[in-house]
Amino acid sequence: MLAFEDLGIRFGGNQAVQGVTGSITPGIITAIIGPNGAGKSTFFNLLSGFYKPTSGRITFGGQDITRLPTHEVVALGVARTFQTTTIYKELSVLENAVLGHRVRTRSGLWDALLGTGRERQERRASEAAAMDALRRVGLEGQAHVPAGSLTQEAQKRVSIALALATGPSVLLLDEPAAGINPEETVALTRTIRELAAGGLTVVLIEHKMSMIMTLADHIMVLHHGQKIAEGSPAQVSRDPAVIEAYLGGHAAPHVRDELKADLLQSAAELPGGQHA
Ligand SMILES: Nc1ncnc2c1ncn2[C@@H]1O[C@H](COP(=O)(O)OP(=O)(O)O)[C@@H](O)[C@H]1O
Ligand SMILES: [Mg+2]
Repeated sequence: MLAFEDLGIRFGGNQAVQGVTGSITPGIITAIIGPNGAGKSTFFNLLSGFYKPTSGRITFGGQDITRLPTHEVVALGVARTFQTTTIYKELSVLENAVLGHRVRTRSGLWDALLGTGRERQERRASEAAAMDALRRVGLEGQAHVPAGSLTQEAQKRVSIALALATGPSVLLLDEPAAGINPEETVALTRTIRELAAGGLTVVLIEHKMSMIMTLADHIMVLHHGQKIAEGSPAQVSRDPAVIEAYLGGHAAPHVRDELKADLLQSAAELPGGQHA
């Protein structure tokens, strides 16, 4: 289990994440929501070792990982994607996924340069793991095309495959559906559900409420860097503090209206959620 206690980080005078305590339940899909600038991506950066907290502690499977470098966090089984798609566009789809797997393999630079037996053996193992990751995101048919030639949605899948190839037990997805159309969002939602059904623990930051409400087993809400609510989708979408965070903030009126409509509709569609 991934757990955090009083987690916080300050950038100069800006307390981006503050006093966040909780845990990620294995085997379910947890969504992290909150208005822009709430600290969601920063929270992921802390969990995955990209940022070091200025307060608090992170444990994974009981081990303190607060100060571990990113590659060690990945090796323990926590992988993430980034809000902006970070893939190598000139490389093939398969080569991208191979890079993910190689984080875990032991061959050093010399092995690679000299083409040692171990290097060749590990390369084959990496390709097998990478192909498996591509299959899990439905990209096995595009393994040998340049990643940059794919649609935006398929490129998102490449970045998920890259993370999957590291062999994680926990996958952190930062806005996987940003910038893709509604049909593609439905398809990506299905893929994420399948990953979770296969036993992967998924933590998802997302703005698209429809996606959150259909995917999430549990929702955690961040606002001004603090956890203001958590619970089932039904509980959270009716929580006055959550509604206030979305409606009372500085969001542009049309954004507020969209979020409000989403929240109200979501609450109405959920079992027992006739009102918000
Ligand atoms: N590397 C950084 N340096 C300074 N400020 C940062 C850095 N990363 C994030 N922040 C600040 O932390 C706050 C939360 O940002 P972020 O986590 O990206 O929000 P969200 O993902 O919820 O939209 C913002 O005020 C942002 O400017
Ligand atoms: Mg973000």
